[in-house]
Amino acid sequence: MSLVTKINETRDYLNLKGIKEPEFGLILGSGLGELADEIENPIVIDYNDIPNWGKSTVVGHAGKLVYGDLSGRKVLALQGRFHFYEGNPLEVVTFPVRVMKALGCQGVIVTNAAGGIGYGPGTLMTITDHINMTGNNPLIGENLEEFGPRFPDMSDAYTAEYRQIANRVAQELGIKLEGGVYIGVTGPTYETPAEIRAFKMMGADAVGMSTVPEVIVAAHSGMKVLGISAITNFAAGFQSELNHEEVVAVTEHIKEDFKGLVKAILGQL
Ligand code: HPA
Repeated sequence: MSLVTKINETRDYLNLKGIKEPEFGLILGSGLGELADEIENPIVIDYNDIPNWGKSTVVGHAGKLVYGDLSGRKVLALQGRFHFYEGNPLEVVTFPVRVMKALGCQGVIVTNAAGGIGYGPGTLMTITDHINMTGNNPLIGENLEEFGPRFPDMSDAYTAEYRQIANRVAQELGIKLEGGVYIGVTGPTYETPAEIRAFKMMGADAVGMSTVPEVIVAAHSGMKVLGISAITNFAAGFQSELNHEEVVAVTEHIKEDFKGLVKAILGQL
């Protein structure tokens, strides 16, 4: 089955389940999935029940699609995403973004937990731009002409208008919101200190194992993107050791600010 046929099949399945014309997609990273619990009039669908959809395997990622109302907007939220390091092909990693577009989403808010290069644990950061260090690209292969061009422009992948709104809303709420460049790697290893020194010289402010493939696919089809990183640790070399438990614990700490911020931003987009 071609990718477009799969996308359409999944769109039709979700339409039949009552998911009609979401305005915004919401991709919730490690430990940030709770925001989906605040969606009103929810339709919740287990990933395992959705045709052509991947399977989520990481602790802290629930594996549910939640559709409904949040801040007066119709949203389609992914509680748990697919990572390349789980062995998923990038087609699977980015499939939900394709389906969001097919359902009619005009924009997507992509969130993640990330290591800070300069910024410390507990920082919330809008992604101003990214560096794709994965050595891969989800658009390799036949181009989906009905979604976008062969050679997409990435100059404004992280939509400036959305970032301005995010900054204004953060200021109104008294939540500190930094901005910076996200460098995307495959994982599952954390980086070496030498890699982090190199990334710093390249201009990166945060490092993580997601987001880049999804944003490439969103940009390809002209979707507007807001990226938000929750910095959970200093990247390798800036602190003595790294582990997933710390990432989960710090996320636990910032998630109230995170949830409040995303909800308020959504109301203004
Ligand atoms: N590196 C990569 N991914 C991450 C990190 C990190 O330090 N922290 C949370 N996700």
